[in-house]
Amino acid sequence: MAANPIKITDTTFRDAHQSLLATRLEMADMEPVAAAMDEIGFHSMEVWGGATFDAATRFLNEDPWERLRTFKRLMPNTPLMMLLRGQSLVGYRAYADDVVDTFIDRAAQVGIDIFRVFDALNDEWNLEQAARAVKASGKHLQMAICYSITEGGRLGGPIYSLDYYVDRARRFQDMGADSICIKDMGGLLAPYDAFDLVTALKPVLNVPLQLHTHYTSGMASMTVLKAIEAGVDVVDTCLAPLAMRTAQPAIEPLEVALRGTERDCGLDLAAILEVGDYLESVLPKYRHLMQDSKSAVIDVRVLDHQIPGGMASNLISQLREANALDRLEEVLAELPRTRRDLGNPPLVTPMSQMIGSQSVSNVLFGRYAMVSDQVREYASGMYGRPPALLDPEVRSIALRGDARDGRPITGKPSALLAPELERAAEQVRPLSDDLEDVLTYALFPSTGMRFLRVKYGMDPRPGSSAPAAQSPEQPETLPEKSSRARAFNVFVEGSVYSVEVDPLQSTPSAIAAQPQRPTAAPAPAAAAAASAPTLAAEGEAAITAPMPGIVLRYVVEVGQSVAAGDPVLVLEAMKMENTLPSPISGLVKSLSFDAGVTVSKDDVLAVIAP
Ligand code: CO
Repeated sequence: MAANPIKITDTTFRDAHQSLLATRLEMADMEPVAAAMDEIGFHSMEVWGGATFDAATRFLNEDPWERLRTFKRLMPNTPLMMLLRGQSLVGYRAYADDVVDTFIDRAAQVGIDIFRVFDALNDEWNLEQAARAVKASGKHLQMAICYSITEGGRLGGPIYSLDYYVDRARRFQDMGADSICIKDMGGLLAPYDAFDLVTALKPVLNVPLQLHTHYTSGMASMTVLKAIEAGVDVVDTCLAPLAMRTAQPAIEPLEVALRGTERDCGLDLAAILEVGDYLESVLPKYRHLMQDSKSAVIDVRVLDHQIPGGMASNLISQLREANALDRLEEVLAELPRTRRDLGNPPLVTPMSQMIGSQSVSNVLFGRYAMVSDQVREYASGMYGRPPALLDPEVRSIALRGDARDGRPITGKPSALLAPELERAAEQVRPLSDDLEDVLTYALFPSTGMRFLRVKYGMDPRPGSSAPAAQSPEQPETLPEKSSRARAFNVFVEGSVYSVEVDPLQSTPSAIAAQPQRPTAAPAPAAAAAASAPTLAAEGEAAITAPMPGIVLRYVVEVGQSVAAGDPVLVLEAMKMENTLPSPISGLVKSLSFDAGVTVSKDDVLAVIAP
């Protein structure tokens, strides 16, 4: 036995497949080795939370609560961990306190031993309720600090300095954390910075310190090793078949590297290899989910621009959608500026999408000419407190036309939320009065209800999640894609599907002007309006679509008077809701489309007469 063995948290059944396989690993493929994993002697295993709850109900038709119950039954000896997004639990928005309390209480009863709780802004306000609920359940509260950097690629600078992390760790410990985790979701933590960070944190903590990182940039194995040298207590790894790339570093080489040292982890390599062989045998059916077309398994660009890998690919697809891929360099240069304007939040979901889309918009249409509703909400304080102050001018632009009349909220955002559980229970009652079903619905009303209807036999079980390429109906050879092919996001009940549409006829503009509803009926009025756009007369101002999108709603009526800068309509583009303002003061002369209609770039959406 080593003097101070490093403890290992295995992420194979959660973060590893969330990172590499879009969270699609089916329970049936984990069950056969669960007992063997339980025997290996991991400090803990992360098996639940993050996107697994959403993916299980949305794509796999598996009850996430049953999954947890099965894990607990098959792995009674290893503490089970889940990742919890603070007040947002396993969802994408903040839930009311009653949902937070009930969800955590039930998860603890069903089998979670360690709750890893984090907030994208590292704001205690978004963590308080969850922390209190975990303590009340008697389980282990791990509080994670999202690791972030600004420019230069290294720890330090005006915000994310050693002092910042020490301060967060102290506060989280004071909130009752039973352990602290450094959560480096972007793979940005450099090895020697990890050494300095662990060295600075250890003396101020009287609870264990854990490191969670991702391989993305290629530094993770070195980073983990330096953290171990500096005395970190626990590190996250996964089994080799699901390791590296954007997932965690592999346990196998680490076990051998540390063997015989004072930090020897003491795990049985032979037993790990046996489970690895099994995983190798089931993973080929998931290969279509591994989206790497490049030769490199690491994303070295991340080291250059410090933009997390997933975020960079989002930016590229947004630019491609706007037909402006040539402006990528400008967007990469704009991104740190936009981030600074918005208080330098960590680039983690949902901030990464928000900052990314705003940067694209700033480059294509001018800085803050178009502000997404998400950025507006963020500026008003609904996401919590950013690490630094927002640029005052940008903030006032963002808050113009805000629902609270430009006044930011002053307290904890979740305090504004009324209890939600009772209403959820009423909605689910015709199907079930099981609390777990109620929680599933409360978290994901649309996909959750779809799942419950299948579960209770009201709807047939949808087809398998097998890729289209394997389906027998698929023609053997695909027609060649022409240069007219355009990518669209299709939004269905809270899910988004990316499709590419390649018109068969030769007029490329014909398709884009049609509403996206598949219909053989005569063209509705909106399409007529699109084919004969209302043109602005001399002196009038036309509001045009800056990029392809969907008209979500108009916030004015024809004949209404507006001031320059007042919101006119909300366009969904780049997965964000964007409010388009009036360029001049005047009267609304015409509104060209119905809500829900897909418009193409440069379509006239409204005309304002002075
Ligand atoms: Co992670």
